[in-house]
Amino acid sequence: MTARTLLVIGGTSDIGLAIAREYAAHGWDIVLTARNPDDAARNAADVQTRSGRAVRVLPFDVLSAASRDELLTNLEPLPDTVICVVGVLGDQARGESDPAHASEIIRANFEGPALILDALAARMITRGNGTLVGISSVAGVRGRGSNYLYGSAKAGFSAFLSGLRNRLAPKGVHVLTVLPGFVRTRMTEGLKLPPPITANPAEVGRAVFRAAEISRRNVIYVRAVWRLIMAIITAIPERIFKTLKL
Ligand SMILES: NC(=O)c1ccc[n+]([C@@H]2O[C@H](COP(=O)([O-])OP(=O)(O)OC[C@H]3O[C@@H](n4cnc5c(N)ncnc54)[C@H](OP(=O)(O)O)[C@@H]3O)[C@@H](O)[C@H]2O)c1
Repeated sequence: MTARTLLVIGGTSDIGLAIAREYAAHGWDIVLTARNPDDAARNAADVQTRSGRAVRVLPFDVLSAASRDELLTNLEPLPDTVICVVGVLGDQARGESDPAHASEIIRANFEGPALILDALAARMITRGNGTLVGISSVAGVRGRGSNYLYGSAKAGFSAFLSGLRNRLAPKGVHVLTVLPGFVRTRMTEGLKLPPPITANPAEVGRAVFRAAEISRRNVIYVRAVWRLIMAIITAIPERIFKTLKL
């Protein structure tokens, strides 16, 4: 039997590496993408050495239409599961006075991931099966003053994934939305994260594999406590919420 294949869009990411390790440990072959393939070579070697599975790297920049076309041309065969982990936290304060930076945050977290997943969805519909996974964020559940450029882009991405799931459910293609909560990675380096609500990348890898390939969940929080935290945050009336320093 031929091995199933996972495509990780954002193959240099710490969360992407953990997910690739988890899938490879379950016998999947792996394709990683990276803006600069050399940057993903170390992750590819890591996954290959640990698992003995086939791992290759393809170039892809989510902000470039030409790069998207190239990836779609080179992606043969179509992977069984595609996971988009691309994201840019960016600098909210800088984005408030630098439209180019604000645009990068919005496009890298929403437009780019949405367009590549939409293109891959069309191919999975033709084949009649597949799984698409988007790594979104709890930051998209309610906009906060300290990171609303990132948060609003993730909100757009979550809504996109919800609509995609609704459209693809009758066509045999599953869509999973992942809301990781805090995770200790390169993206959050230097931030003070409370340990009880902070996951490590390996935990995210295990949760994603289970939800995408075994229990076929629709939306997951990696640590369940985040469901409660976000329920409380969404219940705060706007007239109070707008006065809080968040
Ligand atoms: N860490 C957390 O606490 C946390 C919490 C919630 C959600 N998330 C989400 O989880 C995902 C993975 O994040 P992480 O923590 O693993 O951070 P990370 O290591 O910084 O990964 C971010 C990834 O996005 C890629 N990327 C950025 N711009 C790109 C572009 N234009 N084209 C292609 N790839 C691009 C980066 O590639 P380069 O190496 O080329 O820059 C990198 O692979 C992100 O979507 C993030 O928003 C993280």
